[in-house]
Amino acid sequence: MPSSTRDWQPAALAVDAEAAVAYLDRVSVMPLLQQVAEASIEALRLAPGQSVLEVGCGSGVFLPRLGEAVGPSGRVVGIDGAAALVPVARRRVAALPAVTVEEANAYQLPYADKTFDAAHCERVLMHLDKPVRALREMARVVKPGGRVVAAEPDWAGLQVASSDPPAAEALLHGWLAGLAQPRMGLELYAYVAEAGLADAEVTPVVPGITDFAELIAYGADLERIARELDAAGSMPRARSRAVIEEWIRASAEHRFFGYLAMMVVAGTVPS
Ligand SMILES: C[S@@+](CC[C@H](N)C(=O)[O-])C[C@H]1O[C@@H](n2cnc3c(N)ncnc32)[C@H](O)[C@@H]1O
Repeated sequence: MPSSTRDWQPAALAVDAEAAVAYLDRVSVMPLLQQVAEASIEALRLAPGQSVLEVGCGSGVFLPRLGEAVGPSGRVVGIDGAAALVPVARRRVAALPAVTVEEANAYQLPYADKTFDAAHCERVLMHLDKPVRALREMARVVKPGGRVVAAEPDWAGLQVASSDPPAAEALLHGWLAGLAQPRMGLELYAYVAEAGLADAEVTPVVPGITDFAELIAYGADLERIARELDAAGSMPRARSRAVIEEWIRASAEHRFFGYLAMMVVAGTVPS
């Protein structure tokens, strides 16, 4: 399962696109991302006949929803930097003539200034070295008065209740070093302003996670982190195993609880 920023680079996706597509499809229907999708649609304020750009569309899971919002007289363009994902997204929207998908780089969008009524991205900025540069590109191609909306997680703020909080934190945060922007959700509000967008509005989406399997499904490879912590001499395997076993037990007994916040931040292109 792709879990680090390295896994989400176009070269890595060319090698194992199938796993990436399976992951994106699976998580897209989970409670957190369903709520994020609804908040994003609301924040975009799309109307029938409008045009919208989806940056880093991946396997295209969000494109049909955008297509529905702008209707058959509208236009949706999805772009992704990974050539291997573009045909997958194209197949998904084959029956929607208003929706097209192109291979393109978020840092250099191949569109003229002020082309679209709105632009959106989700879980893309967290994988970029220069997220503000990508937000500026999105702002450039949106018309004055249009909305730019980004939805990003705050992985560094992930919390799960445990009887051994320091060990739990070490396990949960052990994989953050593999992310380009582990605090993207926390920093996004300021970045939107830095990108020159006005009137930033944030919708925090923080559903509780009551199933350990859900946490694992989001990409937290705790077994690998436990091995690494042990090898580095930071935490013996027995201690991390106790934490993981406690979470499995708690989940079976309906008392597992944690949360991961995602922030949906909207800004307006100034007139
Ligand atoms: C975690 S996936 C999210 C995909 C999609 N937004 C979704 O919600 O399912 C991140 C996506 O960003 C794309 N990506 C990463 N860097 C990019 C770049 N510089 N330009 C365009 N796309 C990029 C990856 O190829 C991948 O499809």
